[in-house]
Amino acid sequence: MDAKVNKKDLDWSKLGFQYQRTDYRFRATWSNGSWDEGGLIESEFISTHEGAPALHYAQQCFEGMKAQTAEDGRVLLFRPDLNSDRMNLAGPRLLMPEIPREMFIAAVEQAVRANYAWIPPYGSGASLYIRPMLVGIGENLGLKPAKSYEFRVFVSPVGPYYQQAGLALISLAVSDVDRAAPKGTGSFKVGANYAGGLLATKRAQELGANEALYLDSLENRYIDEAGSANIIIALKDGTFVTPKSDAILPSITRRSIMTLASEQLNLSIEERPIDLRKEFSNFKEVAACGTAAVLTPVGRIWFDNEWHDVNDDGKSVGPIMQKLYDLLIGIQKGEIADPHGWVHEVVL
Ligand SMILES: Cc1ncc(COP(=O)(O)O)c(C=O)c1O
Repeated sequence: MDAKVNKKDLDWSKLGFQYQRTDYRFRATWSNGSWDEGGLIESEFISTHEGAPALHYAQQCFEGMKAQTAEDGRVLLFRPDLNSDRMNLAGPRLLMPEIPREMFIAAVEQAVRANYAWIPPYGSGASLYIRPMLVGIGENLGLKPAKSYEFRVFVSPVGPYYQQAGLALISLAVSDVDRAAPKGTGSFKVGANYAGGLLATKRAQELGANEALYLDSLENRYIDEAGSANIIIALKDGTFVTPKSDAILPSITRRSIMTLASEQLNLSIEERPIDLRKEFSNFKEVAACGTAAVLTPVGRIWFDNEWHDVNDDGKSVGPIMQKLYDLLIGIQKGEIADPHGWVHEVVL
């Protein structure tokens, strides 16, 4: 297939974070103990039995990644090996098969390459969102693992997750429902965590917030994470902290930002429990981070029945988050040095 076809005629800079059908997706099937070779297909529909365990018992997991176009036209993924590793934790947690890393990366590359025309151009502010997913399919009724699995990778060009360009601030509302139990599935990217969070997001949005913020479900004190992003905080005492919790998704973006904060900004970094009410007055800059959210500063947080402005301001983007954002997207777009080899070129 000649990948280098003309780009689609989309208004790239106006894209939101919505599904846009693209031409091809990768599909492989697991049955009788092994994966078939898989390949690209055109249909965006999955046809499965009405008893499929993915539909009844949420036996499914997924990943989220992005491809960016660099100024020289190269197409870059960001740390796809870590998405593969994370899916290989979630799958087995739900008794689903592992996907060998080479197969995962090759599937992602095929889906990206085949949809070259849909990859937003450099400078458009948009990127190609990539959604690998693993679902338990086939006939079933009782509570037991599926006998067959489908691994699929589809892609969709997307704009900013929070419907605002650049580094505008968002607000979060502490949820009165829990996302994940201490020994539950909170640290795995499984759909069940998100279904349980839909109500929290709705309630947060009714309060005027962009997203829900979850505290730990044991004591309702320590920050866990936002609905679709981890939390990072620059404290007034100069340290840069992020919650330590077994119930949150280990964000690849956060891991990268913590490295940048330490190595490039020389900040002292800590991963530790963060007591929201006790420590809020020491928060200087707060941000949500993730593949979709990138790094989005948080201006105010709703808890204990009122809004609390971060750093008594709530309106301006702080210098630390601005620098980290610039460093992160600079590396992701191939604009600045990548000393750790985080970007992975998809050869077209
Ligand atoms: C619940 C949750 N937390 C955190 C993240 C961020 O993880 P990552 O940086 O690996 O995308 C995501 C996904 O973007 C998420 O869904």
